[in-house]
Amino acid sequence: MQPSITALPIKPSRLQGLSERLIDSHYVNNYGGAARRLGAIEAALAEFEPATGAGFRLAGMLRERLAAQNSMLLHEHYFAALGGNGASPEGPLAAAIARDFGSFAAWRGQFVALARALAGGSGWALLLHDSRAGRLVNQWAPDHLHALAGARPILALDMYEHAYHLDFGADANGYIEAALGNLDWPRLERLYAAALLGQAPPTAPDQPPDDLLTAEALRASPSAFVLLDVRLPGDRAKALLGIVGARWCPPEALGEWATAQAPARPVAVYCVYGFQVSIDAAARLRRHGVKVHRLAGGLAAWRALGGELAEVAADVRVRTEVRPVE
Ligand SMILES: [Fe+2]
Repeated sequence: MQPSITALPIKPSRLQGLSERLIDSHYVNNYGGAARRLGAIEAALAEFEPATGAGFRLAGMLRERLAAQNSMLLHEHYFAALGGNGASPEGPLAAAIARDFGSFAAWRGQFVALARALAGGSGWALLLHDSRAGRLVNQWAPDHLHALAGARPILALDMYEHAYHLDFGADANGYIEAALGNLDWPRLERLYAAALLGQAPPTAPDQPPDDLLTAEALRASPSAFVLLDVRLPGDRAKALLGIVGARWCPPEALGEWATAQAPARPVAVYCVYGFQVSIDAAARLRRHGVKVHRLAGGLAAWRALGGELAEVAADVRVRTEVRPVE
């Protein structure tokens, strides 16, 4: 079974010192790669016959599944931790850090030293809540297979070279400082609160589920939707490839498009990452009586899933109504 792709919870262009190119590549190729690998492993496992299959084959598949599962989970924690201003925490998490490390500065010093110790190779620097001991710990993980049993990740810093090489080359220290400067501590506070209560990690507050369509659902039933690429002209100009089967309509022409097309099937709109552009586009189409869904995670989630791409042309009926792409 193909695992569900979690939408990138941050706008890469808003991060400081980490480029959109770096984050996009990391999300699509490495996070998406783990998801695709996990789907392939699950398919192979489903065909394994315990009565006749070799034990070492099963062990190999289960080992690789663990690696892919943890890679997905840790990458989700990594991306979700970014998008803040890097200021230190102020709530119960701050108090717990002071209790368990002596001070925030002491925690940060140990965490940065841990991350630096992983530089040049691979692994994760982790801040975990150890539920058995009831305390926070920094954990070294040289790959996806190391995890403290019973602990919940609060912060995961990716120290694989793919996390920084595009922007920083071999300067891992520069990357570590840039990443810590983007930490969203209020979100980490919510994660810590959920961990104390044994609750599932809270979802991002800007992802209401009502009209969202997952990339997996779209790929499973593409004919159920009229697929509309609503990326801004500048974003489309940077990447002409969109989701196969989609037509492009810039946001300012959506009213004309809805009037001209009068779609009989629900419309699924997508933009680059699934944030404000598609939210606004969906609202605009609804004002014209169109039943509309938004693709969760936008084109990036589709690419991470490994969905088919094709050059997306403007709809003929609106081509003459919109400004040419610059
Ligand atoms: Fe990574």
